[in-house]
Amino acid sequence: MELTKKRLFEMVTGYQTTALLRTGLEIGVFDALADGPTDAATVAGRLGIDRRACTTLLACLALQGLLIRDGSRFALGPGVRELLVSTEPSYAGGIHRVAAGAMEWQALGRLAEAVRHGGPLDGFDSTVPDFPYWHDFAATGTFATDRLAAMVADALAATTAERPGPRILDVGCGSAAVGIELAARHPGARLWAQDWPTVLAVAEERAKERGVHDRTTLLPGDAFGIPLGGPYDVIVAANLLFHFSPERAVLLLERLAGSLAPEGSLVIAGFAAGEAAPAEELRAQLLDLMMLCTTPGGQMHSTDAYTRMLTAVGLTEHEIHTRPGFPPKVMVATRPRGADLSGPHDQ
Ligand SMILES: C[S@@+](CC[C@H](N)C(=O)[O-])C[C@H]1O[C@@H](n2cnc3c(N)ncnc32)[C@H](O)[C@@H]1O
Repeated sequence: MELTKKRLFEMVTGYQTTALLRTGLEIGVFDALADGPTDAATVAGRLGIDRRACTTLLACLALQGLLIRDGSRFALGPGVRELLVSTEPSYAGGIHRVAAGAMEWQALGRLAEAVRHGGPLDGFDSTVPDFPYWHDFAATGTFATDRLAAMVADALAATTAERPGPRILDVGCGSAAVGIELAARHPGARLWAQDWPTVLAVAEERAKERGVHDRTTLLPGDAFGIPLGGPYDVIVAANLLFHFSPERAVLLLERLAGSLAPEGSLVIAGFAAGEAAPAEELRAQLLDLMMLCTTPGGQMHSTDAYTRMLTAVGLTEHEIHTRPGFPPKVMVATRPRGADLSGPHDQ
């Protein structure tokens, strides 16, 4: 695609659109207009904010198509009520706390520093215990979270149906969307949800909402250090392993493989780099840069790299599930019956 001045200008000012949307959501502009069209002074009064600034913000949001301006009055633009008014069941505005939240916003603002010197940036190591961002991430989720959970459950449908009471470990589980989906589909299943304590508070809430709380056990702490228990019929690592270097990822996979029951399934789900179509690849590569900024050695591993890692820990049977137009992938590896996977990191 040839670079034109128009495209250059769009690229260099793209952050301004993000800032406007983020500010509208943070301040509550869309909620303040939910009852119908009104003028900027009324919105400023409802939100307790500066009147002149509010007028300019609303004018800019109108120029972005998020509001409709009629003289001095503003109304919600098409689609805005459904996606950006927080009381709507289809509300999706919380995504700004993850995709444009303080951590990603500030980290990308210092991307040149990370690219020059290698990461992580000072104060941005997201792999330390209870890094605050993960609570927001679990509470909000991404647009891919529920779809990925369903994709994993579909991929395992045949395997788990054969077992009357599958034991499932969701490691680095966040909201435990994947584990909870699996448990919800199998009334006899038991779920062990593993993550840092503050994040597990969100998973516990979600388990209550989905009615699987009485079949869920919380495993708080460091996935590299705490006893993981087991054996499990299914172990899920969703959007987790790319936070670690290949060596650390193998270390964790070794622990997980050692906690698998014979013929149990280890699932790696989420983004992988290297083989996707360009539009999908861009998301994976941007995530790779985010890993550079916010982890010591994390990187977007390819499915080939995962295949090698799984083979290295003795899991030789793999399958890869993809969905058209949906970048995340699901890799399922099976522990062969009779395999001895008890390595130095097993318990
Ligand atoms: C990108 S989120 C993925 C969450 C969830 N699996 C999902 O797919 O929505 C990564 C998660 O890994 C957790 N995590 C990172 N390092 C960890 C560690 N050493 N032990 C336990 N959890 C960890 C974080 O707290 C966070 O919830």
